[in-house]
Amino acid sequence: MLELKNITKTFGSVIANNEVSIKIEKGTIHAIVGENGAGKSTIMRIAYGFYTADSGEILVDGRPVQIKNPHDAIALGIGMVHQHFMLVDTMTVAENIILGAETGGAANLDLDKANADILKLSNELRLGVNPKAYIEDLSVGAQQRVELLKALYRDAKLLILDEPTAVLTPQEVEDFFSILRLMKEQGKTIVIITHKLEEVLAISDDVTVMRDGKTVGNVKTAETSAKDLARMIVGRDVLLRVEKTDARPGEDILKVENLTVVNKHGEALNNISFNVRSAEIVGVAGIEGNGQTELIEAIAGLIAVQNGSIKLLGREISKLPVRRRIELGIAHIPEDRHKRGLLLDSDLEENSILGVHYRAPVSASGFLNSAVIEKRTKEIIENFDVRPPNPELAAKSLSGGNQQKLIIGREFELNPKLLLVSQPTRGVDIGAIEFIHRKLIALRDAGSAILLVSAELEEVTALADRLLVIHKGKFVGAVDPKVVSKEEIGLMMTGMNSESKTMILH
Ligand SMILES: Nc1ncnc2c1ncn2[C@@H]1O[C@H](COP(=O)(O)OP(=O)(O)OP(=O)(O)O)[C@@H](O)[C@H]1O
Ligand SMILES: [Mg+2]
Repeated sequence: MLELKNITKTFGSVIANNEVSIKIEKGTIHAIVGENGAGKSTIMRIAYGFYTADSGEILVDGRPVQIKNPHDAIALGIGMVHQHFMLVDTMTVAENIILGAETGGAANLDLDKANADILKLSNELRLGVNPKAYIEDLSVGAQQRVELLKALYRDAKLLILDEPTAVLTPQEVEDFFSILRLMKEQGKTIVIITHKLEEVLAISDDVTVMRDGKTVGNVKTAETSAKDLARMIVGRDVLLRVEKTDARPGEDILKVENLTVVNKHGEALNNISFNVRSAEIVGVAGIEGNGQTELIEAIAGLIAVQNGSIKLLGREISKLPVRRRIELGIAHIPEDRHKRGLLLDSDLEENSILGVHYRAPVSASGFLNSAVIEKRTKEIIENFDVRPPNPELAAKSLSGGNQQKLIIGREFELNPKLLLVSQPTRGVDIGAIEFIHRKLIALRDAGSAILLVSAELEEVTALADRLLVIHKGKFVGAVDPKVVSKEEIGLMMTGMNSESKTMILH
């Protein structure tokens, strides 16, 4: 259905795609895997006309075509859901979907008709999307389905999905995969970019592996394994598990008592109490949207607290502004790296000093110290393997995983007493996951207290020394992840708690 032949694309001195060739068969699900920055998004953005290739050829149904912009791609039946959603929060589902699709004529602006058409499409695929709902009120999973609808509404026959599951909960991933299988049955062709090898094995028919802008492998999914894929992706064997010694925790760094946070939907956190000691990682496991975001943001100072106390080394901080909390030793790796983590249009140097730009050693008497900034940026780039290693690049031109490494590096530079970390490896390749996990454990062993939230049960159980399970804004259990099985924890996450196996630690 789609053939990309010898595609080359450069951005300045970076060769994002170097003679890449990929053949996508009609009616199949084709996975594309590879390290952060390997060129996966770029090659697919070329197929969608978002970028134009420097050289190479594109064929659709065997015929050479010109795809100069997304309009050309859509006309050829190609749709794409990007790595970061491109929906307008304050508009409804239907408004978002017809936005940019009004190719002329008043008929296309008929909102009633659009509402009806979208509802019909949504029902056919059992997406459960209400066309009149506002985007800001939808869960991430539902927003994902809106992005799908947007492509289908434009009559896409080939759908390119750039890391669609990165932001979904395990349950949502399963639902999403059922939708993809249904679409495949209906004759659609699907390209899926992902870092999760178990997903590749579960959903795809073919896999293309990219490394350093080149295709390094094309295999049938049935004929490969996670281990083989990992080796092809990284070019060496990867440890697909975490190695760590037992924690030797010290004093309380963070002590939270009777914390209640209310948001527009009600009580996001309901009277919770816990502590995190030095040299330990406390994990929070839960289905997304059960108060994890509010918990981290309340401690970081990004949202107000209705009731309760938050103490850092014995000192009440719940009323202090964010900046004071950072000064007192809190670092924060946020879940949404675009909204909270980076200034996308600013370069790596500016991004490396966010949060500390106003004070020594980064600035003195109101002036930035460029030597210090340069050194700091260089350290982050080196220690966290940010690629390409160019301090003058804008953050937005880094690949998704490299943006994440930049944020993590910046927060580690603070040498925090308490690190708040949400979804540290979302969108990060398997080699970098291994790397980030090691860094987190090293930070723990150096004495920092770490509060970790992750939607990946696998990750949180592997890293945490103690695990708190959150459900509807309450902790429903504290477990030792070495003792309690993932199935049991999964059950607790849904609110079903079997007391017998729950070990309350202190
Ligand atoms: N608009 C751009 N400007 C400059 N460089 C870019 C741009 N887009 C991509 N690049 C560079 O091209 C290379 C390939 O990036 P791409 O986004 O395709 O990687 P990826 O395989 O999708 O990675 P990830 O898994 O992290 O999303 C990277 O080195 C990236 O920094
Ligand atoms: Mg990408």
